[in-house]
Amino acid sequence: MNIILLGPPGAGKGTQARRLVAERGMVQLSTGDMLREARTSGTEMGKRVAAVMDSGALVTDEIVIGLIAEKLEGDTGGGIIFDGFPRTLAQADALSDLLGEKNTELATVIEMQVDDDALVARITARSTCADCGEVYNDNTKPIPADGKCSNCGSDKITRRADDNEDSLKTRLLAYYKQTSPLIGYYYAKGLLTDVDGLAEMDDVAAEIKKKLDTV
Ligand code: AP5
Repeated sequence: MNIILLGPPGAGKGTQARRLVAERGMVQLSTGDMLREARTSGTEMGKRVAAVMDSGALVTDEIVIGLIAEKLEGDTGGGIIFDGFPRTLAQADALSDLLGEKNTELATVIEMQVDDDALVARITARSTCADCGEVYNDNTKPIPADGKCSNCGSDKITRRADDNEDSLKTRLLAYYKQTSPLIGYYYAKGLLTDVDGLAEMDDVAAEIKKKLDTV
């Protein structure tokens, strides 16, 4: 089963995707994680996208579609969770073509609804494990007292360069201008459903489970 988690920055896409990977053996394809990995490994592409990401703007369609196309050539096991992709109509069309080439398709698109004030509060309190991607939050899921990641034991828990109020404003604008048209796009295709992303993490997970069990 292939699904998209769609929502603004901080909606909880990564948090819920990681749970689905653990619970259902699905594969998480996060273009944000792929781009951050490219930055860390110092590839030419990583250097090119670094400033764009830090500003909060979107990286070009060509780059992210290329990244996804490459991942789709690998083993996609128990289905794919697209996290942070697609983000433009061009990316959505490309995804449809790529899945078609693999003789597969999307089962559903889950829009995670959260209001903007909550997003700012969440993002400015977030930290992430640089080694395994585990996500923490000063208010709802604090970093363990020993400073080590509860998932992998790493002590490299850091704030993302784009998790500040200025970049967040640009990220939100990009979401409303370039990504939110996908809500209508997938509604018209009969694939859209939504969950209340403001609920407690466990309740959001239960709601997503319920949706997936009825697809
Ligand atoms: P990306 O990494 O995809 O970032 P994003 O979409 O801005 O999403 P986030 O990772 O910030 O949030 P999330 O929804 O995953 O929330 P999370 O679960 O972490 O993209 C980064 C950049 O890369 C983009 O700006 C762009 O430049 C580029 N890029 C990536 N993909 C691209 C594409 N396709 N095209 C072009 N450019 C692209 O949760 C957030 C916080 O809230 C955490 O602290 C978490 O613990 C907490 N939280 C989660 N759920 C709850 C809950 N229910 N209650 C309370 N707290 C919660």
